[in-house]
Amino acid sequence: MPQLPKTLNTYYETARETTSMEMRAYFLGGAGDERTLRRNEEAFREAQIIPRVLQALTGGSTATSLLGQKLACPVLVAPFAYHCLLDSSGEIATAQGAEAQSVKMILSAQSSVDMKAVRSASDSCDWFQLVWMGSREATLALAQTALAAGFRTFVLTIDAPVQGVRDREIEAEFKLPPDIGAINLAPFGQPRFAALKEGESLIFDRIAHSLPSWDDIAWLIGTISAPVLLKGILHPDDAARAVGIGAAGIIVSNHGGRVLDGAPATLEMLPAIVKKVGPDYPVLMDGGIRRGVDILVALALGAKAVLVGRPIVCGLAIAGSLGVSHVLRLLRDELEVAMLLSGCATIGDITQDVVHLKR
Ligand SMILES: Cc1cc2nc3c(=O)[nH]c(=O)nc-3n(C[C@H](O)[C@H](O)[C@H](O)COP(=O)(O)O)c2cc1C
Repeated sequence: MPQLPKTLNTYYETARETTSMEMRAYFLGGAGDERTLRRNEEAFREAQIIPRVLQALTGGSTATSLLGQKLACPVLVAPFAYHCLLDSSGEIATAQGAEAQSVKMILSAQSSVDMKAVRSASDSCDWFQLVWMGSREATLALAQTALAAGFRTFVLTIDAPVQGVRDREIEAEFKLPPDIGAINLAPFGQPRFAALKEGESLIFDRIAHSLPSWDDIAWLIGTISAPVLLKGILHPDDAARAVGIGAAGIIVSNHGGRVLDGAPATLEMLPAIVKKVGPDYPVLMDGGIRRGVDILVALALGAKAVLVGRPIVCGLAIAGSLGVSHVLRLLRDELEVAMLLSGCATIGDITQDVVHLKR
């Protein structure tokens, strides 16, 4: 068995030290000056957890349920693209590592492995991340293919209609190797942009016409015979709109700081969003979760569960499926310690009283 890093921080440090500049730029970098990427993490560091002593904890656990599905722990693997860049088995390795910890994985639309192969390799990878394919028909066709492959819950990512300005990737000249790509999207076509004519704008003359509207998303939600969560919401009014069009839940996310640099930390927007949609609506969040205490803070501020991205990237990069499994285990062990020390026997006990936010 390979020697695994002993702590979560060592996973991040080792990944930073051992991956190439291109891989670091793609997987660990963010958009622009990486203000949002840093802010996501800083917001967690500023939150303080108030210890409670001598609480009865017998019979407690990290188990919870979400959309009627049982989770061993309120953590899901965030959808991220092109796992084959980090491990030759790609998304299959990640899914198996997640399954070993009974953690659900959301398969990215930009998976580098065939969705059927990933689905059949792991019982717990039955969530699929959809992306708008330029038209209602093409997006529905992608969803139907995923349903036929055995996926049961959808996450539609709506915060990245265009790639962020990724300085680090540009400087590192990051390019996908020819044998790695979004193979599940290929049959449905992707918006193609011919060379710009003089005076044309890429965004307003080319991309804008293929962007979805709220009506398109409402139609999709009403047409797909499975729950659809919307990922990438940061404004309370957008959250209310998602509820209004029948989204099964929302994921408060800024895409891990990879799209709009300058967007606020997800943790900072979470309380206002939960207030707007009410405490019972399924609000999930991601961005900046690096340790078990961060999960506790997110739940205290109203998230029903969290998604983790870069910690999984590091686990996969260092030790494949074993690394993914170990990172998830460490996160859960740390969450349990944090629950004990803050007097929370169950996930339901983690309320706002547990945290003290510096203002
Ligand atoms: C390398 C990388 C690729 C990503 N690809 C996708 C993607 O294909 N679809 C998507 O919805 N989000 C994608 N994301 C965003 C993640 O789902 C998630 O929102 C983000 O990583 C959470 O922040 P964290 O990395 O700080 O945990 C990606 C993130 C990273 C780091």
